[in-house]
Amino acid sequence: MGIKTILKCKNFILRPIKISDAKPYYQTMCDKDTRANMESFPSSIEEAKKEIKEYLKQIKNKDSEYFTIEIKGKYAGNVVLQHQNWDPKSDEGRVHLWIHPSFRGKGLATDALEKVINYAFQKKYNKIFAQCKAINKGVIKINKKLGFKIVKKYTNENGVKKILFVKNKIGGKTKN
Ligand SMILES: CC(C)(COP(=O)(O)OP(=O)(O)OC[C@H]1O[C@@H](n2cnc3c(N)ncnc32)[C@H](O)[C@@H]1OP(=O)(O)O)[C@@H](O)C(=O)NCCC(=O)NCCS
Repeated sequence: MGIKTILKCKNFILRPIKISDAKPYYQTMCDKDTRANMESFPSSIEEAKKEIKEYLKQIKNKDSEYFTIEIKGKYAGNVVLQHQNWDPKSDEGRVHLWIHPSFRGKGLATDALEKVINYAFQKKYNKIFAQCKAINKGVIKINKKLGFKIVKKYTNENGVKKILFVKNKIGGKTKN
């Protein structure tokens, strides 16, 4: 387990992100639904590459994992697993995800997130948090389907209404 982990599913693989993902990653970040649902995004392909370089540093230094969802050799999105509060010793994690617009509406986010959560519970985590904007109907549905519970609804420092979810290992599903 670790920075070179590849998770295999029936219709896709989850493999570590790489700089050559920058173009489809940037395309995903340019999509209007992505922009409506995320709080920050790169404004050029150069910035997208810089972000991926930062992700690669985080993978090394903070025990974060940035999985690229790949379908038949094509980039289809990312699922991120990192420590809550950046503490690599903590058993609390958090997840983020985004799907390339060409691959939405097929159950991919649900399947990829489920795979990463099961991996996370096997790896070391006992608790996984997920946050989204209160307007994000898709992610709310996905989180509920995967057994996340709402911790709180709140307005952040930028005035954005958000929902914090958690899923505990104990009593959770361990289906792979
Ligand atoms: C939200 C997102 C991850 C969903 O990806 P996806 O692969 O299309 O999701 P799924 O196909 O697994 O959808 C699961 C369920 O949510 C529903 N759903 C997905 N997107 C939805 C939306 N925008 N509005 C309402 N319901 C939605 C689906 O209909 C499906 O319902 P079902 O189980 O009853 O069939 C994707 O649209 C995306 O990347 N959005 C922009 C980035 C983003 O919001 N990231 C999260 C930031 S916290």
